[in-house]
Amino acid sequence: MPSCVTTADRVQRIIVTNAKGGCGKSTLATNLAACLARAGTVSLFDYDPQGSSMHWLDVRDDARPSIHGVAAHRQPANGITRTFQLRTPPNTRYLVMDTPAGTGGTDLAQVVQNADALIIPVLPSPIDIHAAANFVRDLLLVGKARAYNVRIGVVANRVRKNTVMYQALRQFLQTLNMTFITALRDTQNYAKASHEGLGVHELKSPTAYIDCQQWEPLLRWLGGAASDFEPVQSAAQPVMGYRDGAAGRAVWKKISA
Ligand SMILES: Nc1ncnc2c1ncn2[C@@H]1O[C@H](COP(=O)(O)OP(=O)(O)OP(=O)(O)O)[C@@H](O)[C@H]1O
Ligand SMILES: [Mg+2]
Repeated sequence: MPSCVTTADRVQRIIVTNAKGGCGKSTLATNLAACLARAGTVSLFDYDPQGSSMHWLDVRDDARPSIHGVAAHRQPANGITRTFQLRTPPNTRYLVMDTPAGTGGTDLAQVVQNADALIIPVLPSPIDIHAAANFVRDLLLVGKARAYNVRIGVVANRVRKNTVMYQALRQFLQTLNMTFITALRDTQNYAKASHEGLGVHELKSPTAYIDCQQWEPLLRWLGGAASDFEPVQSAAQPVMGYRDGAAGRAVWKKISA
């Protein structure tokens, strides 16, 4: 859980959270960190004892835009204060925090008070929608998110469009008056990227431009122009950029129709 996160004012603190397990918190946190690292210095805090985000960072190639990682779930070593353990490089622009499943109760107040933006990944399934409803209610009632002026947005994850469950999720968000940021499709690209310590926008995959497109609304919601975060162009694969190629646009039109 976020505790004693002290940062300069200009740092944007982004927490990826949901009490429900397996909805994509670590996937979103790591992809976001990789994406933002192209625009400014990123610190990635992992509050989950599973350490998925730290493991991802361990396998990340040093040649990629670097990310400062903190295993925030660990107690500080002897003689080190919590504040020192959670320090960030002085030029940190983005602080991305991955949180464990089961976040609730009084932890929610800490989450809310340590965030500028909360991103809630939700899977389009009845169980996940029900759990998300409870989580959002707790964020508002227990965490008093509105009082702290924290921006909250939902990302539908592992989506197969035109399914009943996806429509149900959209309806549920409308009922709660929640901000729906974007939908990320269900694709092996995320597993591949995770395995290699990459974000999907860094993958050498002919279909990754579709995923980059789906990330654009999230980057815009966070306040950066999506163009600040151009995907990696590689000589071997010059048309990975989602801005390029009529073929890419045609596919995007198809899936977003
Ligand atoms: N959009 C996606 N498409 C395909 N697979 C995905 C997608 N998002 C996440 N996954 C996969 O779903 C699984 C769970 O994702 P992840 O570990 O990010 O969830 P989590 O919320 O962090 O889980 P936990 O609560 O255990 O920390 C992982 O195997 C991940 O690769
Ligand atoms: Mg996780």
